[in-house]
Amino acid sequence: MRAIDENTITDAVVEQMSSTPDPRLRRIMESLVRHLHAFAREVDLTPDEWLEGVRFLTEVGQKCTPFRQEFILLSDTLGMSSLVNALHDKRAAETCTKSSLLGPFYRQDAPLMKLGDSIASKCTAPEICLYGKVVDSRGEGIPDALIEVWEPDETGNYDLQKHDPSEMDLRGCFRCDSEGRFYFRAVCPLGYMIPMDGPVGKMIRAQRRHGYRPAHIHFLIGAPGYRELVTALYISGDDHIGSDTVFGVTDSLITTLKENDPSSPLPDLPSLHYDFQLAAESKREALSGRVGADPSQIVSKTG
Ligand code: BEZ
Ligand code: FE
Repeated sequence: MRAIDENTITDAVVEQMSSTPDPRLRRIMESLVRHLHAFAREVDLTPDEWLEGVRFLTEVGQKCTPFRQEFILLSDTLGMSSLVNALHDKRAAETCTKSSLLGPFYRQDAPLMKLGDSIASKCTAPEICLYGKVVDSRGEGIPDALIEVWEPDETGNYDLQKHDPSEMDLRGCFRCDSEGRFYFRAVCPLGYMIPMDGPVGKMIRAQRRHGYRPAHIHFLIGAPGYRELVTALYISGDDHIGSDTVFGVTDSLITTLKENDPSSPLPDLPSLHYDFQLAAESKREALSGRVGADPSQIVSKTG
């Protein structure tokens, strides 16, 4: 029996958990405990502060519903989601477009549309054209790649924030042509504040952060034999492009809206052009890059 004090406690916990048969779980839990204890020692955590932390995490859990995942929002605002994305990108077997957050407004089952269609079924804001290619690491088009896209409207609101959640707007799926090309109509989105009416919003305000995400459009892109890409395009000129509350922006994902683009399939509309690059799938790793989830998937699995 060893004397338990503020230093020996860490090894005691790690030793007791060493019976964990799954080696990956054992490694993750050991590292988690070592860092958690080091954090408490570093800040000299008091019982009141510990209880405040427990209260905060309890509130975060209580805010979760089939339509809202406050824990993911917490991960996003602490930079953890973007860190996990960056680690995921580093494991790619080939060069590919960088990941960005899936975010809380992704929904499965967006309608399949035809190239050239508009994803705006209710929104009446002026249209823009999005076009480009889905290519492999050599720049060759990937035939029939599937693109899922979703965006907020010109006031910065997603369909889920405006309508009955069963009604969809500003989201759709497109199958690329035989050369990996795609184009469709959308609207120019506005940046928006992350959901601020819960404990994460309270934290953001306590830290005097603005809470905004810059204007962006989300994409989830897949094709057989390739690693799924979860990313977003950010529109240059937004005031918050350098201070995204959830750290999703990276230089290579910033695009500029062009007024007159003769290469656009719809040259009369302002256009955004982007070619997405997918890496071949690698046997060594899990294929999903979804840092985030449809909240209903998480709640229904546990509930
Ligand atoms: C979004 O882009 O939809 C988003 C991502 C993380 C937190 C909040 C919103
Ligand atoms: Fe978003």
